[in-house]
Amino acid sequence: MTDSKRKILVTSALPYANGPIHLGHLVEYIQTDIWVRYQKLRGNQCTYVCADDAHGTPIMLKADQMGISPQELIDKVSAEHQRDFSGFMVGFDNYYSTHSEENKYFASNIYTALRDGGHIAKKTITQAYDPEKEMFLPDRFVKGDCPKCGEQDQYGDSCEKCGATYSPVELKNAYSAVSGAKPIEKESEHYFFKLGNFESFLRTWVDNHVQEHMIHKLNEWFESGLQNWDISRDAPYWGFEIPDAPGKYFYVWLDAPIGYMASFKNWCDKNDVDFDEYWSESSETELYHFIGKDIAYFHTLFWPAMLEGAGYRKPNGVFCHGFLTVDGQKMSKSRGTFIMAETYLNHLRPEYLRYYFAAKLSSGIDDIDLNLEDFRMRVNADLVNKVVNIASRCAGFIKKKFDGEMSTDLAVPALYEEAIAAGEIIANAYENREFGKAMREIMAIADKANQYIDAAEPWVLAKQEGKEQEVQDCCSMGINLFRVIVSYLAPVLPQVAEDVQAFLNLSDMKWDSIQQPLLGHKINKFKPLMQRVEEEKITAILDETKVALEAAAASADTNKSASSGPLSEDPIEDTITFEDFAKVDLRVVRIAKAEHVKGANKLLQLTLDLGGESRNVFAGIKSAYAPEELEGKLTVMVANLAPRKMKFGVSEGMVLAAGPGGEDIWILSPDEGAQPGMRIK
Ligand code: 2FM
Ligand code: ZN
Repeated sequence: MTDSKRKILVTSALPYANGPIHLGHLVEYIQTDIWVRYQKLRGNQCTYVCADDAHGTPIMLKADQMGISPQELIDKVSAEHQRDFSGFMVGFDNYYSTHSEENKYFASNIYTALRDGGHIAKKTITQAYDPEKEMFLPDRFVKGDCPKCGEQDQYGDSCEKCGATYSPVELKNAYSAVSGAKPIEKESEHYFFKLGNFESFLRTWVDNHVQEHMIHKLNEWFESGLQNWDISRDAPYWGFEIPDAPGKYFYVWLDAPIGYMASFKNWCDKNDVDFDEYWSESSETELYHFIGKDIAYFHTLFWPAMLEGAGYRKPNGVFCHGFLTVDGQKMSKSRGTFIMAETYLNHLRPEYLRYYFAAKLSSGIDDIDLNLEDFRMRVNADLVNKVVNIASRCAGFIKKKFDGEMSTDLAVPALYEEAIAAGEIIANAYENREFGKAMREIMAIADKANQYIDAAEPWVLAKQEGKEQEVQDCCSMGINLFRVIVSYLAPVLPQVAEDVQAFLNLSDMKWDSIQQPLLGHKINKFKPLMQRVEEEKITAILDETKVALEAAAASADTNKSASSGPLSEDPIEDTITFEDFAKVDLRVVRIAKAEHVKGANKLLQLTLDLGGESRNVFAGIKSAYAPEELEGKLTVMVANLAPRKMKFGVSEGMVLAAGPGGEDIWILSPDEGAQPGMRIK
């Protein structure tokens, strides 16, 4: 549907209110903002809301550590977030907080509807408890020695040395990362959302509302079974108390997506808009969530199921994107590439990065790389040398020689028509989040405009007698093409578009306005629109990042308390050491038995013979192999993978496969000289 006057509500994920915005975050906010600006320029009624994700244990403990209240912390962080978003020209219609009256109302409203519909279960569970701080400890807040290899100072869920996974109660010499006290085991009743009740609804819903790239992942989740989701936490907890359960609080992830509704409701009340028109089950408006692929489970399963259970409309689309890498590797503090939004803005204007991200973004979920040298070259080549150059080559002549007056006719109407005709392809690309394609199409028009000016040579004509008209015509043509190009780039470069609007003396930069070329139109004096990105600026960003990271590390050291572990934001590094790799126990195994799994579309159940020992493994290879093809054959497995509980039973390892998927998966190894149980070195 691309007709005008669509009513669209758009969200980006809500950033946690305990840390600064960095360039990794910005991929999503810039992607969403470009899409929203495009919709607005097309005349659609598009509203973009967001908020800080303000609840949860890490925020509560960080505030505690800083000696301020959680409210003070979230207020401070919210101001910083809004400063950075506005610095990058991310134009939210409303930026709110999940710690709001509206959110409390909707969280309670949705929960009660789910409870009354029979979708909430209660169960008593045992958890680690800090007797000194008198609080239950999330797994990451318990530390101790690995029960398997003895490595000290490991988190309560897994060992960083040997990779073992376990529960916090299994740790040796366990201590609370909050107070240092020895945790005890304590029982408590928890509330669970029965996600499985929505399996058939979700199986149908995901087919039409989630990108194709994600369907495979979703199928895996369906295959491994939809588990009940623990939505409650015990006091003390920074969040909303559950209405019928004193001392129990909603888990932060329960009220986070509800924050989308709450922020919108807050905006509706300020702008006299009917909230129900957007959120009632039969709403004809559109709703889209932009998120990172890491939080897809929450947005493609829990969230639509909650909405379905509580009688609200579901999203029309959940758009996942990949992560940002810098110079080909994950953003990293140790490599000094963990660049904060604020640091970037201290040295460069936001539109360079907006353009670079746009040029790299597609509708898929691949990671996008910020190669700093490529960034500099691409911005200079495309925006400065190609786009802005068109105006700087033509504007001076019009201003000086013709008092700013453009020609009354187009010199080459066909060229203008061609640029207008490309508008449809560019519009489709924006609509479908294929921004890279849109940027390529726009630059192709800029190339043609430059070729036209190169061939017409106004600077040569300007020196010749009697060529005044030709100079005016060719420069006016150039300016007209420039206007079309900048109108197409307006969602990406809002400030440039605004400056060009003033320079060209236009009433707007709307998509449809370019249908009419500027004829006999008066323009203003041209002021440089954009400078080149200099190498020193990039160096300055990296230097400042290094200093900031060192300062943060030093202050973390000085304040080192037991809690610095889980509260720190160390990114996960992307390489593993040889020692890490050597931990993987690869074995040749014989497939003793292969069977279909009742109710599973993709899985086969394999009984693997490791030369005496036998393992049960579920493998998603049904599309490529019939069980009888496998029995008796050799394959390779990871033998020391922690057992994984799946819907159909426990999987005790993993077979290695090659190939793109579908029928093309290969797992078999040649039966020459290999013996079951042999280790692969
Ligand atoms: O992963 C995160 O950063 C979460 N704060 C995102 C929440 S998105 C929505 F559900 F609120
Ligand atoms: Zn270990």
